[in-house]
This record gives sequence, structure tokens and C-alpha cells, in this order.
Amino acid sequence: MSPFAERRARLLESVGRRTAAVFVATPNALRNNDVEHEFRQDSDVFYLTGFDEPDTVVVLSPNGHVREEGKDPEKSLFTMFVRPRDPEREVWDGYRAGLEGATSKYGADHAYPYAELTKRLPELLAGHDAVVYRFGGAFDERLFAAIHHARRTAGRTGLSAPTRIVDPVEVLYEHRLRKTPPELEAMRRACAITAEAHEKAMAIATPGRYEFELEAVILETFRRHGSERPAYGSIVGSGANATVLHYRRNDRKIEDGDLVLIDAGCEFGYYASDVTRTFPANGRFSDPQRSVYEAVLEAQLACIEMVKPGVTQGDLHEKAVRVLTAALLRLGVIEGDLEEAIEKEAYKPFYMHKTGHWLGMDVHDVGAYFVPKEDGSIDGKLRHRPLEPGMVITIEPGLYFGIGAEKAPAALRGIGVRIEDDILVTENGHENLTAAIPKSVEDVERACRRTP
Ligand code: GLY
Ligand code: MN
Ligand code: MN
Repeated sequence: MSPFAERRARLLESVGRRTAAVFVATPNALRNNDVEHEFRQDSDVFYLTGFDEPDTVVVLSPNGHVREEGKDPEKSLFTMFVRPRDPEREVWDGYRAGLEGATSKYGADHAYPYAELTKRLPELLAGHDAVVYRFGGAFDERLFAAIHHARRTAGRTGLSAPTRIVDPVEVLYEHRLRKTPPELEAMRRACAITAEAHEKAMAIATPGRYEFELEAVILETFRRHGSERPAYGSIVGSGANATVLHYRRNDRKIEDGDLVLIDAGCEFGYYASDVTRTFPANGRFSDPQRSVYEAVLEAQLACIEMVKPGVTQGDLHEKAVRVLTAALLRLGVIEGDLEEAIEKEAYKPFYMHKTGHWLGMDVHDVGAYFVPKEDGSIDGKLRHRPLEPGMVITIEPGLYFGIGAEKAPAALRGIGVRIEDDILVTENGHENLTAAIPKSVEDVERACRRTP
């Protein structure tokens, strides 16, 4: 059985025979005129089929039937609606698997042209009580219309029609959250390529170069190793740009004495890496830069050390906040008592994001962060989810002193530091998938002084 077939079987097993599932390809997005943005398949569709064409809808229907004129209804557990072959369009846009490929290569029981979706979806949904579907996208209206249609005909056919939408977070995302060995292999590869890219960027970074020159080296490294694309827009922020969390211009000339913050990771085989390093462009941290860097590093190492099954991302964030708040007191940025400063969130102007997130096919991967309380209490409050083997998270504390951060000592203003690694939870602890990338003060300075 292919891994995709295994995943479909697992999903259906977990929801039972009376629940169907519908997954929709990412819509093609127009950039301007007749030029489209790069297409990347929806992660759920790819996870379940390996099919990477647009205009695709995947229907899993344990009780579903398809009807052809003059034939008895046939069961269809796995149906794909796809673009049919079209020699003329294929001259422009490239090969399509078509209906034949959807069945022979991708294992669909039945395949139909995308244009037949409206006509055929109701009969596939009939006979089910619920549909697994990610509500909130452009396809909602079409799905609701199909359910409505199935309901109208239910009286005549005696088949039930779905009355419930089940969010994939309850089923499929529980599966995506725990990575299998082949998935981890892709993630390790993504991390290895990303490691090389960061090291190269450190080696070429020097005062006088532009941020985009570093970005170019990173993207070149990704692509040269077969990565399809970056997992998100690369951030290369020098000087005070390092304090802008989602800085994307990457067009400033790097100056002597600048820190450079690079947050960049490639995608490989549909799996993401997500890494941040901060380093001195001239190869030597200044004293204020080093003091901030060491504080962030201490927080990051303390959090990584804690990772093992049972620990929660809430625990990790608390730890990062504690270490960083103590550092802010030490650095004279805030005053008073540690516990009180934590309680009052005095760190927030300088550490305003969380310490990590799930990582997988999506850089901010799917999966519930909170779960019901163990005692079953129903006060509406959830608890942080304990980590389990096979989950991958990022750990990415930072400190940011914008140029306008008047509360911070003048020497710290314009300094931004984030350090981010990708951590796999194992049976007994953890494995840092991006450990190879220089991170200690000495290693970072050495990597920056290396000739490319
Ligand atoms: N690069 C996105 C993030 O760190 O969450
Ligand atoms: Mn990142
Ligand atoms: Mn991240």
C-alpha cells in the first residue's frame, strides 16, 4: 500500500463508515493579467494523494456511490475530480495526469472532470451522516449546496444526508501532527539543506553587501539541492531591521557593526524547515550585542533541554519568559522583582511572540495546541497539549529593542536577536534537527569569519 493509501485508510478508520471527507486543492491565484502565482498543492490533498495539480477535489466516501446512465450504481470510496487531459492546454501549462492517471497512478476508484463536481458530489455524500471538511474557504458554498441537494433527495432514496461538518483538526490533523519515518526523512533533508544555506549566508555576510545578496545565496542553496521552494518568505534583516518581526524587504546595505537576523527555511518534498540565526556581519559581537545574544541563547538552550514527551509548549514558553525576563532585569531594561515582572508581563514590549509552533508540511503546521482538561471539567478552559514522540516543534525565543524603544538603554536600541531550531520529540527526549548550524558565540563568529 502506498503511504497515501495508508493515510486515507487511517483517516476513514478513525471516522467510521458513516462519515465522508472532502479536500480541495489550493485555488490558482492570479498575480496580474494572465500571470498566476506559483501553485503549491494544499497540504491535506497532497498528504492524502500525492497529487499536485490544481482544480482538484478529493472525496472519500465509505458509503458513496456513483451512477452512470444505464448502469447499476457503483461504490466509490475514493473519488477524484481533476482536470481532464487537454493536448492544447498541455502545450502551454504542461502535462496533466487526467482521469486515467488519477485512477491508474493515484489509485482513485473513480475519476471525473472537475466540471462534473456539482452534478456528482451529492451522490457521493448521500449515505453519510457527517463530512470531514475544513470550513472557511472559497469552496464552502459548493459543499453546502451539495449537502443541501443530498438532503433534498434523501427522502426519495432512503439514504441519509450529512448533518454535521467535522473539522480535520479532530481527525486528520491528529495524524499529520505525529510524523512517520518517511516524513521525518523529508524533514531531515529540508533541515540539512537549510543548514548549508545559513552557513553560506554567514560566510558571505560582510559590511557593504546588501541583505538581498544573502537571500540570493540562501535561495540558490535551497534550489540547488532540489528543494521545491522556501517554506515561507525569507527574512534577512540587518541592523534595526532585525527588530521587525516580519521584515521582508531585504534591500538594505549591511553596515559595519550590524547584527544580521536571518529567518529562512526550505521546503523539501512538501515538508518545511524553519530556522533563525543572528550573527555579527563583521565577525565579532559588540559587548551589548553579545549580552543580548547570550540571553536569548540561554533561553533557547534551556527550552530545548526541557523537550520530552509530556512537556507542553506552554511550559516551554514559560521557561523562555522566565530566562528572558531575568536577562531584561540584568541588562537594566526593566526594574523590580522577577516574579512580579513575569506576572505583569514586563517582557512583552521586547518579547512579543510565542516560543514555538508545530512544524510539518506547513511551516505553522496544523494540529490542536490545546486539549480538554484531564478531569473533564467543562468551564470552557482548555489545557496546553503534552508533547508526544513524533511531533516536531520550533523553539525560537528572541529579544527585540526597536530604535524607538525608549525604555531600553541606548546601547541596546536597534538590536534584535532570535534563535530558532527545529526539534523532534523522541521517546526519551528530543533531537535537534538543525543542531548543525553554528549557534554558540564562538561558532557563529567563526562561521562569519570563514571565507566562502
Ligand atoms: N518563519 C516563521 C516563524 O518563525 O514562525
Ligand atoms: Mn522562523
Ligand atoms: Mn518559526
